[in-house]
Amino acid sequence: MSYNLLKGKRGIIFGALDSNSIAWKTAERVHEEGGTFVLTNAPVAMRMGEINKLAEKTGSEIIPADATSEEDLQNLVEKSMEILGGKLDFVLHSIGMSINVRKGRAYTDQKYDWTQKGTDVSAMSFHKVMQTLYKADAMNEWGSIVALTYMAAQRVFPDYNDMADNKAYLESIARSFGYFFGRDKNVRVNTISQSPTPTTAGSGVKGFDGFIAYAEKMSPLGNATALDCANYTVTLFSDLTKRVTLQNLFNDGGFSNMGVSDAVMDTFMKE
Ligand SMILES: NC(=O)c1ccc[n+]([C@@H]2O[C@H](COP(=O)([O-])OP(=O)(O)OC[C@H]3O[C@@H](n4cnc5c(N)ncnc54)[C@H](O)[C@@H]3O)[C@@H](O)[C@H]2O)c1
Repeated sequence: MSYNLLKGKRGIIFGALDSNSIAWKTAERVHEEGGTFVLTNAPVAMRMGEINKLAEKTGSEIIPADATSEEDLQNLVEKSMEILGGKLDFVLHSIGMSINVRKGRAYTDQKYDWTQKGTDVSAMSFHKVMQTLYKADAMNEWGSIVALTYMAAQRVFPDYNDMADNKAYLESIARSFGYFFGRDKNVRVNTISQSPTPTTAGSGVKGFDGFIAYAEKMSPLGNATALDCANYTVTLFSDLTKRVTLQNLFNDGGFSNMGVSDAVMDTFMKE
């Protein structure tokens, strides 16, 4: 269902890799709500070509950008304003990657150049995106910037590995930059802490099937899907949430406040 919540709003959506991506679902929902946007992803991710289908479906242009490259980001922001015909109202940072996770390297046995690369891609890129937008004065007043995170920033999920630290850093950047963006430009910055979701990045985490099933049993409303996350993001991009900023918002069916559920207890007792 569409409510026209984003009619006339313009933005940039990072991170749509394939139709499972949270950013993909968000682009579809933003389009349905009347928003227009530029799609972007790392040049290497473009090779799959999937993003072209999304661009066609949503009438969007694609600008490749490595989110760790200031030069790519400057080009992206400048060209996006040209294409969309003015300053931006919303930006979604939906980017995450850990080489240690990908290559099965334990948290207690990090290869630090991989750790550093993961931090640059998954967390510092958010600072770079915001600094680029801030310096170019590219955001309209009452615009909204959202990044996606996971609860391993606050609690221990051993197989989430160095991504836990990256997410803690990402959430801190949202608050710190959010202050300056709020004070100087009336722009809000928030993170959404999403349930485990079956995507390329999500499924890459060791033991993913176990912890998605566990979270499902633990959460009174069940796991939030990629579409649920897209819908939540639409509300944060809309004018209905104008003074929500510097927040880490849980979209997780209640998981983050649970101790134990009947469903988990039943499974445990059977064992
Ligand atoms: N899937 C989950 O369980 C889950 C849960 C909570 C939060 N998140 C977060 O949601 C976000 C989106 O992930 P997803 O689950 O949709 O997976 P995904 O694999 O579909 O998306 C990750 C994206 O990051 C992009 N990316 C990687 N390196 C990049 C770079 N250098 N420059 C630009 N883009 C780059 C990839 O190309 C990809 O499009 C991530 O921040 C992820 O950590 C995911």
